[in-house]
Amino acid sequence: MNEASSVRIHPTADVSPEAVIGTGTSIWNQAQIRERARIGSDCVIGKNVYVDFDVVVGNRVKIQNNASLFHGVTVEDGVFIGPHVCLTNDRLPRAVTPEGDLKTDDDWEVGPIRIRTGASVGAASVVVPGVTVGRWALVGAGSVVTRDVADYSLVVGNPARPIGHACPCGEPLRDAADGSSFRGPCPNCGRPFPPDAEAE
Ligand SMILES: CC(C)(COP(=O)(O)OP(=O)(O)OC[C@H]1O[C@@H](n2cnc3c(N)ncnc32)[C@H](O)[C@@H]1OP(=O)(O)O)[C@@H](O)C(=O)NCCC(=O)NCCS
Ligand SMILES: [Zn+2]
Repeated sequence: MNEASSVRIHPTADVSPEAVIGTGTSIWNQAQIRERARIGSDCVIGKNVYVDFDVVVGNRVKIQNNASLFHGVTVEDGVFIGPHVCLTNDRLPRAVTPEGDLKTDDDWEVGPIRIRTGASVGAASVVVPGVTVGRWALVGAGSVVTRDVADYSLVVGNPARPIGHACPCGEPLRDAADGSSFRGPCPNCGRPFPPDAEAE
């Protein structure tokens, strides 16, 4: 059931009556929101997005066109999910058993994914099952994320590796060759980094 009439759902979207959608959220063309999915307030769910059953999405989350969030995914507040991102859930996928029978929902284990507050997942990235992307981390476009990503970390590539940090404003923060030792105010917004350090 939707919580309020301020929810905007495009007529071509397919939103399960068992899904819960928070106030101020917009759901665009052909998006599919499955049964018992819970989407918070003031979110934007783009064209052709797939949100699987029981997926939890926080408040003020942006999910861009064609992203897929499979069963077992949790997305916290303020997260950005880029276009064509795939948040997976089956680490060792098989369509059939060794005997050739079609597998069912009971034949495999869900590998949960959590994307923490403020984090961004760049366009067309894939996150493999069991991974947590930390608070305000930034995953570069086209990455394959195979390991947990630390808070504020900036990672790129396949497999995704840290190349520095990211400020909550989005600015990459890097001054050593390995990107690990940035300290001081963000050149873009002036916030201190690490966040609990005083600005220098
Ligand atoms: C990662 C990102 C934030 C750039 O960070 P940056 O610190 O400005 O990085 P730079 O452009 O200085 O590149 C640093 C290095 O990382 C590499 N790099 C940058 N982005 C990369 C990516 N997505 N994948 C792989 N390598 C990448 C660069 O080639 C460069 O390598 P080099 O040092 O060997 O030359 C940016 O490239 C990115 O991917 N942003 C996400 C865009 C996106 O998906 N938006 C979604 C909405 S459309
Ligand atoms: Zn900043």
